Amino acid sequence: MPVEIGVHDIAMATTTYRMDVDQLARATGEDVDKYRKGIGQDSQSVPAADEDIVTMAAEAGLAIMDRHGSDDIHTVVVATETGIDQSKSAGLYVHSLLGLPANVRVVELKQACYGGTAALQFVAGLLTRHGGKALVIAADIARYDIGSSGESTQGAAAVAMLVVADAPAIAVIEPAVGLHSADIMDFWRPNHRSTARVDGRASVSAYLEACTSAYGDYARNGGLGIDEFSAFCYHQPFTKMAHKAHRHLLNATSMTICQEQFEQRINLSTLYNRTLGNSYTASLYVALSSLLDHGDGLAGGTIGMFSYGSGCVAEFFALKVQSNHEDHLRRARTRELIDSRVPIDYQQYLAQRQYSDVGGGDREFPELTRGPFRLAAIRDEKRVYEAATI
Ligand code: CAA
Repeated sequence: MPVEIGVHDIAMATTTYRMDVDQLARATGEDVDKYRKGIGQDSQSVPAADEDIVTMAAEAGLAIMDRHGSDDIHTVVVATETGIDQSKSAGLYVHSLLGLPANVRVVELKQACYGGTAALQFVAGLLTRHGGKALVIAADIARYDIGSSGESTQGAAAVAMLVVADAPAIAVIEPAVGLHSADIMDFWRPNHRSTARVDGRASVSAYLEACTSAYGDYARNGGLGIDEFSAFCYHQPFTKMAHKAHRHLLNATSMTICQEQFEQRINLSTLYNRTLGNSYTASLYVALSSLLDHGDGLAGGTIGMFSYGSGCVAEFFALKVQSNHEDHLRRARTRELIDSRVPIDYQQYLAQRQYSDVGGGDREFPELTRGPFRLAAIRDEKRVYEAATI
């Protein structure tokens, strides 16, 4: 009998600060309903000066370690497009902060917002061969130019998943997948920039085209029909995109299934992203957490997952939800993380943003984070992480 590889635990982390879209609307002169209703965002997570993808990834990973320990973990993959080094994997800093043993393979994966899904499939392959456990962490900070249309979609989060080869408690990763890749310039970030370049409209069209193409490939590969899923999670660069994608897929497949039930479940998958903003490769797994934490009757059903990374690579795959998955969720912890973020105004947001500029030189960072780890300094071009004391 083939082994059932899947997600055994899932934990999130985000930043210390949040900026509500009202603040942004005041600064840009836009109607706030463009952001709340048109884009589907209420606020965005804003990293403090001493927070980055490593501190968020380690915080999410720590929750998993606290519950399960590190036994049998042989692989750590950090997926990100907010890389902090061109050579060394961000995962090695996380490995060290979590006190993981030396006999672990650590690597970083990048393909825009698709990296987290690539990491899941990469470890599923390893687990099929070697058994054991792997820690996958998707972590990103979405940043666009000040005053650009993408600014309202910014955000930040990390999602850690413990992936196991035997009896996953939350969901089994089903074997059928559908893929779509194309060399396009819809969204990219050259090495010298700390903000993304984007062709907004083209990126939305590319996402929708990739969605139907990847689902078509999935169906040809023996996947489920649209009407056989109990819910869907779409990559959410802004939450309205999930609704656009779902309508597009239903139209493309000429499905007229009960819209109301699906719209309601898509709404449930957007609750966290509405307030966190885009977290690029973590966003699909933030959507999954939101759906699992808020949806009822998911046990035994199958969730259709659509992962899109600009540039572009897309994958449609499926997760079969385990019967007792609700016993393994972290609803209260996640709610506390989201609700305890400190609201800041537009000027305070600009002040924190200056720390994200790519540049050389030694820097010490003020201690601001409320998370367990912090970026204390960059000295001699080396990043110095430490346990936070606040
Ligand atoms: N009240 C209600 N709705 C309003 C409104 C108001 N006062 N004003 C405008 N709207 C609506 C518009 O009608 C529009 O709705 P529809 O999309 O349903 O037509 C929506 O708000 C957005 O308005 P605009 O299209 O005018 O917005 P924009 O052009 O300023 O920016 C965007 C939209 C192009 C998506 C921009 O936010 C952007 O560039 N974002 C970054 C790129 C991105 O997220 N791309 C998504 C696909 S790529 C991907 O998925 C990878 C990734 O993570 C980046």
